[in-house]
Amino acid sequence: MTEPDGVPAPTQEQTAHALAAVTAEAQSAAAAELMVLAENVHKSFGHLAVLKGVDLAVRPGEVTVVIGPSGSGKSTFLRCINHLEKINAGRIWVDGELMGYQQRGARLYELGEKAIARQRRAVGMVFQRFNLFPHMTALENVVEAPIRVLRQPRTAAAQRGRDLLARVGLADKTDTYPGHLSGGQQQRVAIARALAMAPKLMLFDEPTSALDPELVGEVLDVMKDLAREGMTMVVVTHEIGFAREVGDSLVFMDGGVVVESGVPRDVIAAPQHQRTRAFLAKVL
Ligand SMILES: Nc1ncnc2c1ncn2[C@@H]1O[C@H](COP(=O)(O)OP(=O)(O)OP(=O)(O)O)[C@@H](O)[C@H]1O
Ligand SMILES: [Mg+2]
Repeated sequence: MTEPDGVPAPTQEQTAHALAAVTAEAQSAAAAELMVLAENVHKSFGHLAVLKGVDLAVRPGEVTVVIGPSGSGKSTFLRCINHLEKINAGRIWVDGELMGYQQRGARLYELGEKAIARQRRAVGMVFQRFNLFPHMTALENVVEAPIRVLRQPRTAAAQRGRDLLARVGLADKTDTYPGHLSGGQQQRVAIARALAMAPKLMLFDEPTSALDPELVGEVLDVMKDLAREGMTMVVVTHEIGFAREVGDSLVFMDGGVVVESGVPRDVIAAPQHQRTRAFLAKVL
């Protein structure tokens, strides 16, 4: 087939390449404006498809709250964002950088360990279980990575570590071992420890669900302060009150896809999908 002026029409393959290039360029441009951009993320464990095309966009300074039933893929998705899991398809950018991979032509190649570690440093993660080092004091837990990984001088790291512990309300616990701290206090140390790496983005995976009810508030308060100070956060939680008060957007996941998302109070007051309604009815 030729065009009327005699210029050969592009083959299907050329068109596909050109489109891929245009799309890749548009994606990079969009990714540069966003703190997180996830497109069509797929993840399987063996035959079990866990993420089936997840999309997410988080602007700098925004708090995105992710909710959804057990097994819907929330933790897996968070772990994909900082490349603790390899993805099977799709793309994830953090602050404009493709996470875990390098694109050459239309193909992705996994980055080396060093490059992945460098990318991961920009992303703080707080889990349900605090995973503090039991043989180190609160302050030692906080300064360990800055000294060992960022090679900060010990005195500077300790000064900053004390500031961070004060920021999470634990100025008087710097020399206390985790075993002598409450769950809420341990979780606040874990948050200070993540902040010590000066992350651009913080991921929280059910940070309060292992806590006694009376300790939940103190951890949520620290997270609210962080949000107010402009930290970009993706938070998996069932604390709907937190989502309503602090969230810029609420994402409901079920069966490995985002079923719906929007302004938290809109999604909570008027969910568009039956599955969202059913889930909210259970947790509210
Ligand atoms: N490393 C793994 N190997 C095999 N299967 C896994 C692995 N990690 C997660 N899964 C499976 O993937 C699915 C999603 O798990 P995930 O932990 O992401 O769900 P979730 O939404 O965080 O659930 P919950 O609310 O219970 O924390 C589950 O069926 C789980 O068993
Ligand atoms: Mg989980």
